[in-house]
Formats: sequence, structure tokens, C-alpha cells
Amino acid sequence: ESTLGAAAAQTGRYFGTAIAQGKLGDGQYTSIASREFDMITAENEMKIDATEPNQGQFNFSGGDRIYNWAVQNGKRVRGHTLAWHNQQPNWMRSMEGGSLRQAMINHINGVMNHYRGKIYAWDVVNEAFADGNSGGRRDSNLQRTGNDWIEVAFRTARAADPSAKLCYNDYNIDNWNWAKTQGVYNMVRDFKARGVPIDCVGLQSHFNSNSPYNSNYRTTISSFAALGVDVQITELDIQGGSATTYANVVNDCLAVSRCTGITVWGVRDTDSWLGSGAQALLFDGNGNKKAAYTAVLNAL
Ligand code: XIL
Repeated sequence: ESTLGAAAAQTGRYFGTAIAQGKLGDGQYTSIASREFDMITAENEMKIDATEPNQGQFNFSGGDRIYNWAVQNGKRVRGHTLAWHNQQPNWMRSMEGGSLRQAMINHINGVMNHYRGKIYAWDVVNEAFADGNSGGRRDSNLQRTGNDWIEVAFRTARAADPSAKLCYNDYNIDNWNWAKTQGVYNMVRDFKARGVPIDCVGLQSHFNSNSPYNSNYRTTISSFAALGVDVQITELDIQGGSATTYANVVNDCLAVSRCTGITVWGVRDTDSWLGSGAQALLFDGNGNKKAAYTAVLNAL
């Protein structure tokens, strides 16, 4: 096959990218994105601060722009993200307790109702676990509303749009030996045991020297999958852009039938949230395919 999306589709998977609305006027960017990828995530435009800038007043202009571009180009869309400690609007940052809990529920309902029936999978909750060795939850205003905030978010999401897969998404849960990975694993196992609706785990997979790709990544993917959830690689980038590491990631996903797709977090190195110096993506700043691109295409 000659594109990432078509190659991934040979095994029933997708290959996606993050899209920024501000770049939809860049012809090189949109031509690469429309040619190569078949799943789209809004890089920022469906986040809480973008979609509910004032409490109770929803704004879907950016999200809809990306959604419409994706669908007009024949692509599906991942929703990112509904409940997160980061990129909260100011009104939410200052909230706590029962009113914050209700605001979270209202936000999930407002956004999911707007996109009802249109989203392949939602990152319902993003980055709720702590870094380091505790294996526990990250402190946040949402966490302080009570430990059950995550399951409330998932139950709310299921009712709001039963057609969307519901994912828990996080970083540094790629290495099977890390406490954070085990903490998320235990939560998902508990949710499955108690019937809390969850369909997928998103491994962000931002690999760098502090959190490098590890050969136990395949064990992480297969272990989550064995709990009865899909696994999606949701925000892949690799600092330095190693072609070998990119191929390893693809091979690990392909080794697990419930690893359903891979999304890279941007198109060209110049589009990366890490800056172009990280050389973390599959196309260089001129839109040329890098060695990592060829390695991925060959592995798919
Ligand atoms: C990043 C975006 O790429 C940036 O444009 C923005 O300034 C900050 O957020 N984990 C996530 C993503 O879940 O939403 C983040 O995206 C990258 C880390």
C-alpha cells in the first residue's frame, strides 16, 4: 500500500493524526493529512476550554471545523477530551466540590450531545493518574470531588452517546513495569469487574529520553487488551524520530488484535507540540517523508 491509512486498513486498523484548525489553510499540511491518514483528532479544539469557554455556553466552532474537514475527506474522528485537569477554562479551574462535579457532568453531556453518533471514540478522561511510584491518582480539582469522579464521567458519557467507544487516555502508561501503568491497569480491571462502561485505553505514547520506548510495550498493550478493552495508540511521537522505534511501535500494535489503531500527534516536525527540533514525527518541515515514515509504512 502507498499510504499509512490504506496500509493500516489492510489489517482493519486506522492510522491517524492530530489536526490543528489554524493549519487548515496550509495546502501542504492538508494535502499530506488528507492523503495519509484516516482518523483525525482535534489537537486542542474539542478540549474543555475550547468547547465551554463560559459555563453553560458551548462553542463548537473549532471542533466543527476539524470535524467537517475530516468527514469531507472521508475520515473518522476521535474525540479529545472531556474531563482533564489541564486546559480547563478559568471558570472551571476555580470550582470545587459538588458544583464542579455537576459542571463536569454538564460538560460531558453538552459536548457529547453535539457530536452524538459522530465520534469513533472519546477520550472521556485524560491523564488522571500521578507520575512517579505511587500508582495512584493525580491530585486535581476533579480528583478532590471524590475518587468516583472517573466512573461518573464514564457512566455519563455512555448515556450521552452510546455509539462512541469510551477511552481512558494517559501518558507514561506505556512501560509495563511502571507504577502508573499498573495503577491504570487496576482501575480498568475494577471497572470491567463492576460494569463501569469503558471500551478502550489510549496509550498517548510520547516517547523521549525520560520515558523511552521499552520492549515491554507489547506486554502493556496485550495486558490491557486481555481485560476486554481495545487499545489505541493515541498521541504517538518519538523524540529524535528513530525509524527503528517507530517500526517497533507499529509491530507491537499489530501483534495484538485489540490494538485497533495508531495516531501520531501531528503531521510534520514543524507541527509538533514538541517543536521542530524534536524531529518527532513522520514528515519533515518541508513535507518530505522521513525514514521513520518508510519504516512505519513497511511495518504496517
Ligand atoms: C497538547 C497540544 O499538542 C498543544 O498544542 C497544546 O498547547 C497542549 O496540549 N497530552 C494530551 C494532549 O492529551 O492533549 C496534549 O496536546 C499533549 C499531551
